[in-house]
Amino acid sequence: MSTPIAERLGIEFPIFAFSHCRDVVAAVTNAGGFGVLGALAYGPERLEIELNWIDEHVGDKPYGVDFAMPVNYVGKGGGDEASFQSLDAMIPEQHRQFVDELLDRYEVPELPPELDDHAPVAAAGLGVDEMGPNQVQVCLDHAANVKMIVNALGPPPPYVIEQAHAAGMLVGGLCGSKVHAERQVGIGVDVIVAQGTEAGGHCGEISTMVLVPEVVDAVGPDVPVLAAGGIATGRQMAAALALGAQGVWTGSMWLTVSEADTGPEALENMLAATSRDTVRSRAMTGKPARQLRTAWTDAWEGPDSPGTLPMPLQGILHQEAGRRTQRAHAKELIGYPVGQIVGRMNKVRPSKDLVLEMVEEWIETTERLNGLLAED
Ligand SMILES: Cc1cc2nc3c(=O)[nH]c(=O)nc-3n(C[C@H](O)[C@H](O)[C@H](O)COP(=O)(O)O)c2cc1C
Repeated sequence: MSTPIAERLGIEFPIFAFSHCRDVVAAVTNAGGFGVLGALAYGPERLEIELNWIDEHVGDKPYGVDFAMPVNYVGKGGGDEASFQSLDAMIPEQHRQFVDELLDRYEVPELPPELDDHAPVAAAGLGVDEMGPNQVQVCLDHAANVKMIVNALGPPPPYVIEQAHAAGMLVGGLCGSKVHAERQVGIGVDVIVAQGTEAGGHCGEISTMVLVPEVVDAVGPDVPVLAAGGIATGRQMAAALALGAQGVWTGSMWLTVSEADTGPEALENMLAATSRDTVRSRAMTGKPARQLRTAWTDAWEGPDSPGTLPMPLQGILHQEAGRRTQRAHAKELIGYPVGQIVGRMNKVRPSKDLVLEMVEEWIETTERLNGLLAED
């Protein structure tokens, strides 16, 4: 099974697996796919540890690293305004009260003083300007294995593209619309991940089925497009390739594999969820992201909501509340970014089995479709 992007990267199957968990990245890479480490929350020192670990576990196989460096967020440009203390102080009292009342309703206690240290959190859009260049440097130091750097929430900053290209790496960009894809190709992005609204995490409004061929046609035959959003089976992979994609970019399906480090409440909620149980909401980060529907997302959409805050302020609020809800095991409030494909994620299985099952089903599907051709 080969496509130009798979050949270029030297991988067996064009199955790209986004995960924050290094064990999943290594497992998919070793199964013949291309694991991509979501590094948003890893400062440079931690990233170095994660990449060393992956290098040790994948031999000479290639893998990728993904960042989410947003184009717009409060504190852009760095400096004092971007410090955690300054951002934290921008959160209105009304919003803090709303969260306290919501958590009280679910009998979630406050954190004990020794845990309530307001430690800086790893929310999307927090510390991007300070951390970004050093994070990228860590990837460059691992260029023997790291063959692609990908960015979400807008085009990657120019230094990312320049430095990655100089090190011989591909640069990928997540896009939810044709216009964004064209813009990214215009500034030097090599691989477009066309991500539909079904996807877990930050997403646009257009479905994968509509978006992928639009993007493929817009960027032309020389730019590889990976289809993302709602893909977890061989039939869906066959459909993505039929739409013109050169591979599939998957995320949600790796949250319930045996190697994943997903917490027990979130895991239980995902295994039980149907494809109707997600919502695209700003309640987690301040930008629209698909996630499990919970009492938290409902409350922010409800009549008493003060309205969500911009990134990263909403993320700070959400993470502070998250520390309380996790500690109290308040299942109704514990969500997770996940896509509509969650309805199929009903069992915990090893990553390798999922990769091989996808490939087998892709072959069966392709043969079935070939069989539809009338013989003359
Ligand atoms: C838990 C989770 C976190 C995500 N975080 C990021 C991220 O930090 N950066 C990014 O580029 N994409 C992120 N995504 C989106 C994935 O890269 C991918 O595009 C998406 O999961 C594909 O759709 P699917 O969830 O239907 O497989 C995330 C997805 C999930 C499920």
